[in-house]
Amino acid sequence: MGLSVKILNDYKAVSQFAADFIFNVIREKPTALIALATGNSPQLTYASLVNKVIHGKPDVSQITFIGLDEWVGIPSSDSGSCHHFLFHHLFEPLRISQKRIHLFDALSDDLQRECIDMDNLISEKNGIDLMVVGIGMNGHIGFNEPGVDWNLHSHVVNLDTITKTVGQKYFDKVTNLTQGITLGMQHILNARYVLLLANGLAKSEIIKQTLEGEVTNAVPATILRLHTHAMAVLDVDAASKLTAKKM
Ligand code: GLP
Repeated sequence: MGLSVKILNDYKAVSQFAADFIFNVIREKPTALIALATGNSPQLTYASLVNKVIHGKPDVSQITFIGLDEWVGIPSSDSGSCHHFLFHHLFEPLRISQKRIHLFDALSDDLQRECIDMDNLISEKNGIDLMVVGIGMNGHIGFNEPGVDWNLHSHVVNLDTITKTVGQKYFDKVTNLTQGITLGMQHILNARYVLLLANGLAKSEIIKQTLEGEVTNAVPATILRLHTHAMAVLDVDAASKLTAKKM
């Protein structure tokens, strides 16, 4: 029970560890359902995973991939979209079949339908086997923003100010970010494994709050401490403010 912590020397080591973990899940369960975050944190993990899959040749043809979240109103052609990120870094290099990929359609005129369809898919697959997530500067996971209702599954959310500001880093030009669509905290709690990736000094304060502060929806990532098999994989910089450091 709880959130275990793995502290590694640098971003590269974090990424290799995470890629090995994902690779092992794929090998152990070739029909697994895997939910993937986007962002800077998992980028090198996905590059390492692509390498490992190309060399190790596990059967990935029956794996189903779902997206953790998406910016509402941003087209998939925009290089800042989560859709674009996952295709570019993972699905295209691995030649994953379209029918094995389910991402939120952020341009849909029926976002509730998008949420229902995602929740139904997850139920049909008997739940998520592995979630690979990052952490926002405000403690969000996906777009589960501070104050989120922990009972939610997929939902649409008004983005937190910090998310709108920090999120600009993914886009070529200033972009109006207002809402997100995301898997919910119930998906996170019920996933068989959750890997939380964080690197860099900028994440050290929110990592300290996540691991050592009060468990509260004001810092959504703290819910991982109630999980049975969640692991925070950190580099020494992200872990630098922790009181109890475990290597
Ligand atoms: C973004 C995304 C999250 C991501 C997080 C951290 O806003 N919605 O899914 O994990 O914030 O991103 P990064 O890894 O770039 O710091």
